[in-house]
Amino acid sequence: MAHTIAVLSQKGGTGKTTTVRTLADVLRRSDVRTLAVDLDPQGNLSDYFDLPTDVEPTIADVLSGRAQAEEAVHEDIIPANLSLAEAELMMGGKMGRELTLRRALTGVAGEYEVILIDCPPSLGLLTVNALVAADRALITAEAQYFALQGVEQAMQVVELARDSLNPQLTLLGVLLNLADMRTVHSREALLSLRERFGEEVFDTVIRASIAYAESAERATSILDHRPDLGADYMALAEEVLERLPDAGEARGRLRRLAAQSAPT
Ligand SMILES: Nc1ncnc2c1ncn2[C@@H]1O[C@H](COP(=O)(O)OP(=O)(O)OP(=O)(O)O)[C@@H](O)[C@H]1O
Ligand SMILES: [Mg+2]
Repeated sequence: MAHTIAVLSQKGGTGKTTTVRTLADVLRRSDVRTLAVDLDPQGNLSDYFDLPTDVEPTIADVLSGRAQAEEAVHEDIIPANLSLAEAELMMGGKMGRELTLRRALTGVAGEYEVILIDCPPSLGLLTVNALVAADRALITAEAQYFALQGVEQAMQVVELARDSLNPQLTLLGVLLNLADMRTVHSREALLSLRERFGEEVFDTVIRASIAYAESAERATSILDHRPDLGADYMALAEEVLERLPDAGEARGRLRRLAAQSAPT
């Protein structure tokens, strides 16, 4: 069975989609079978992976019961578009609405080692569906003032999902993203997160760079566009696998990839 990781934040623009895209890139290059699920009506993940905008079926069709999850997998991605906003509204009125994604993904979970779910920038029904479908939650925070409040709010939703619907759910970690450690903002954000969440905060901090916007625009992985920056995500992937049970063999594959891509 796959390890299913929901990537969430209370705020917009904390690098969730970039994290899902790039972790998927690193894992796939290490031959770890990885499914990426776009659960945001903005459809950014689908764009970052350069899927055609009219690709069908999408996650909206899956959540509405019009398609099976396996039919909606395109190049190991389940895409989303604006029709997901409508699907979310429809789900809202149904019994078991929080369980829809969990049920839908059981059909594909056996095909993958890791499933990454990209949540929208709100803590509403879609994010709750991701947390009920997942066994781990990865919270991203932008390295700014108020990072701590945002993470605390996301953590409350994780705890709510665990206490009410998904007792297996645990925190995978808190990721400080878009950081410029030369600034006081970023250093204080990291310090406050470490004080509050200790070891739960990943050692890896993802550095801010304009190169991410460029690589998103070109739908090119940062691993190819700027391998020096991509190294942050290689290190993050290593930490992620370290925190997953039974992922020792996958870590071996990742180490081999890292050795190949290290500068000589
Ligand atoms: N490490 C980084 N440094 C600088 N810019 C980044 C970095 N990571 C992502 N970005 C850029 O920041 C913007 C937001 O990133 P991304 O889309 O990954 O965030 P998000 O949390 O998914 O946003 P949303 O909440 O809208 O879904 C994008 O333009 C992206 O290219
Ligand atoms: Mg996003």
